Amino acid sequence: MSIQYCEKCMSFFLHTPNTTYVIGIVNGKYLGHIYYGKKIQNQNLRHLMGVKADPSADNINPGDTGIFYDNFPFEYNFRGIGDFRECALDVHTMQGHHGALCEYRSHRIFKGKPTLKSLPATFGSVAECETLEIELFDPVISLTLTLSYTVFADNDAICRHVRVRNSGSEPVYLDRVLSAHLYLPENAYDVITLHGSWGRERGICRRPVSYGISRAYSSRGVSSHQAQPFIAVMSPNTDQTAGEVYAMNLVYSGNFIAQTDGLVNDDVILQIGINPDDFCWKLEPGEYFTTPEAVMVYSAQGLGGMTRTFHDLYRKHLIRGKYKDCKRPVLLNNWEATYFDFNTEKLLDIARSASQRGIEMLVMDDGWFGNRFDDHRALGDWVVNEEKLPGGLPYLVSEVNKLGMKFGIWFEPEMVCPDSDLFRAHPDWAIQVPNRTNTTLRWQYVLDITRPEVLEYVWNRLYSVLSSANIEYVKWDMNRALTNIGSQDLPADRIGEFYHRYTLAVYELQGRLTSEFPKLLLENCSSGGGRFDPGMLYYSPQIWCSDDTDAIERLKIQEGTALIYPLSSIGAHVSVCPNHLTGRSVPFETRGHIAMLGTFGYELDITKLSEEDLEMIPKQVEMYHESNDLVRGGDYYRLASYAENHFVDAYIVVSKDKSRALLTMVAVTYRINHRAFLLRLQGLDPNANYYIPAMDSHFTGDALMNAGIFIPSPWAGGDYRSFVWKIERED
Ligand code: DGJ
Repeated sequence: MSIQYCEKCMSFFLHTPNTTYVIGIVNGKYLGHIYYGKKIQNQNLRHLMGVKADPSADNINPGDTGIFYDNFPFEYNFRGIGDFRECALDVHTMQGHHGALCEYRSHRIFKGKPTLKSLPATFGSVAECETLEIELFDPVISLTLTLSYTVFADNDAICRHVRVRNSGSEPVYLDRVLSAHLYLPENAYDVITLHGSWGRERGICRRPVSYGISRAYSSRGVSSHQAQPFIAVMSPNTDQTAGEVYAMNLVYSGNFIAQTDGLVNDDVILQIGINPDDFCWKLEPGEYFTTPEAVMVYSAQGLGGMTRTFHDLYRKHLIRGKYKDCKRPVLLNNWEATYFDFNTEKLLDIARSASQRGIEMLVMDDGWFGNRFDDHRALGDWVVNEEKLPGGLPYLVSEVNKLGMKFGIWFEPEMVCPDSDLFRAHPDWAIQVPNRTNTTLRWQYVLDITRPEVLEYVWNRLYSVLSSANIEYVKWDMNRALTNIGSQDLPADRIGEFYHRYTLAVYELQGRLTSEFPKLLLENCSSGGGRFDPGMLYYSPQIWCSDDTDAIERLKIQEGTALIYPLSSIGAHVSVCPNHLTGRSVPFETRGHIAMLGTFGYELDITKLSEEDLEMIPKQVEMYHESNDLVRGGDYYRLASYAENHFVDAYIVVSKDKSRALLTMVAVTYRINHRAFLLRLQGLDPNANYYIPAMDSHFTGDALMNAGIFIPSPWAGGDYRSFVWKIERED
């Protein structure tokens, strides 16, 4: 890891362990992108910006050539000056200015990484990372732009963000300020974004990059089920093991865009940042605005290389807290077991049976408060319903604790139902547009937590409930999108700030929660996986992945999620069959195998299980304890994708020292008269010897990875069969 500035060639060189990123200065003022890719040595590469090697020979006069602004590979580009491509920054003023041109002014390189004000971001010590800040300035509107880049000693990601300061004497309105802009030279590229819906999150969508804009976005106020703040472009032949990939992921939980702009000269622009569609931020003189952080990853080892870089970065430099590096308790959540129909006795029955089988925590989901007998009412009334739970939380929690189990609870802090005491007392606290009928979704409104008094109410309720008993886990849910954006506090020319301010308020609440209750295990959730993003990971080491708990559906959802996010963050439970959403029945063992490569837990009425299924639980719990350090800390390799081949799914997790591995394979549909499935493993030490106990066979790593293992069909018989095999190095 290192960052250097070469005075002679007026270029910055950013080196990660295996990649290099180069930026140049032209005409003493234009910042251009030179190179991003495999590691190279520092040298003069200015010709890649289309200019002469000698910076003193620069004599560009954009006014003469006309096309300079629309052709130059800007490191960060601006609207309004003659660059007609998708821009990174657009501003206006009340004095009639539109657009900007920020020119290089200075830079500094230093050890470590500053925090981002009020925003989640990756972190690292002075020994672990180095940062470059380049300052640009627009003298006409006195706007100072700081582009910030951090490289890490142990990771190939480059984290960047932008800070804009109004250095003038009049307000400036930011209409668009993206976190990252990357200019890629002429090539044929494929692009991957992740899309879905409720119950079908993060499907991998790959297609060729074409001319014009291809955009993944959210305008729902959350990162959403429908899209991910992620985009990757790659050489068309890229697969899991080979090919060049350029990826971006935004550490943000609100509205975003992630897009390619395919230019007519066949270059491609890659951008990520806050969605400009519903955004306009007023900067008063002296104020500054900080964008969310973008994580950029270049991989020369295909998608697998990209995935492992993201996983390592997030595990080491984003996820925090007590559970960052440690095993999470095996939990049982009562949602699919009881929905709203529970009371203390029912929960204790479940807990008794669960504790006898090694389950370590009971999580009480929605329905414990106010008049919440269904999802039509009571959100906001965070007072225990003693009709359901006589003796309240202190009694229930102490009874659960007596069984040797921890206790966790569900909240949906950002919401209020029209039918609630809170709404009756404070109807103005819901986000709304005056005189317009407010849109209810799932019979609820969103609280305007950008208002201090509303945020304080929410915080006080959370604090009071969590202080009332020994609660060791919170599931923070969020079940609807933001609509009807209006504000009691913001003046009309600041309403474009609302969505971002809302996201900052969520971060403020979760920041308070994690610092006031440092031992708490927080799991984020949004109607399943509607807010599964790196911003949330900064506060919670795990996120509920999807309300679709059907194990076979989960194969696709978890594959898309694991493309970016570590397995340790993927909330995955064994639920009952026939599955409540799909009606599909999958063997209990297979359900366990698929949940095992996530956080692992149960979401079913254990008191109603068959003896056969019940007997399997202690074995699954034992397997979880045996393998979870590998799942949490190992390297993940995708071997076969059911989403692609509609037949079989396979992945392996290999310990960092390559001494142990866990191979999961699911034969989704049984294939008659099919001789065998050949599985080539990945990630092992080619020169080591390995033993596979399930086969009672010994192989070298190179044989397992190149020749593969022949898994005879009918190795299981029937659909939905699976196995998890251990692989051990022999010293
Ligand atoms: C949506 C979540 O994803 C579910 O797991 C459950 O907690 C419900 N909300 C409760 O309303």
